[in-house]
Amino acid sequence: MSLLAAIPPEVLPRAGVAYVHYLSFMLCFGALVLERRLIKPNPNKADATLMVITDIVYGMAALALLVSGILRVMYFGQGSAFYTENPLFWWKVGLYLSVGGLSLYPTITYILWAIPLRKGELPQVSEALANRLAWILNIELVGFALIPLLATLMARGVGLPAA
Ligand code: HEM
Repeated sequence: MSLLAAIPPEVLPRAGVAYVHYLSFMLCFGALVLERRLIKPNPNKADATLMVITDIVYGMAALALLVSGILRVMYFGQGSAFYTENPLFWWKVGLYLSVGGLSLYPTITYILWAIPLRKGELPQVSEALANRLAWILNIELVGFALIPLLATLMARGVGLPAA
């Protein structure tokens, strides 16, 4: 309680948005790791259902990551020019969008699984499809692991054109 009281009021929203940014990053990464562990040919009902739920959590966390990131650029960071003038920022955004684009394929696949699951049937997942999804998840995990590196450099002004 006294710790909360010691936080200057103007710091709270900045810290709150930063916290949402980190929390959603952790949720995205955790969801991807779980999906990677679960993916296999012809999953049972429990695994297939968990996969669909995990992907919904991933989607919502990815959205929260994007929104909190945009809020930090616009209102709660070091001024929007500090980021938009830095190519490392655009690499970071590009990597995020590439990972997001890659995840469309698994997401559409899991949405299609929900149709048989709701009828009480199991989705048909071939060995080839399971391998393809596993590889996409591997690439997404590497992409996600690289983004914080770009973020920490960017936050310290690395990459900014000399004044
Ligand atoms: C388009 C999406 C994103 C935008 C617009 C964005 C924007 C930002 C901004 C403005 C900061 C504050 C930097 C500062 O302290 O000056 C930040 C920090 C950070 N972001 Fe993002 N971000 C995005 C996506 C991501 C993603 C996908 C990840 C992780 C995978 C991530 C991880 C981080 C980390 C770890 C920091 C802290 C850097 C530090 O203070 O050392 N961001 N981001």
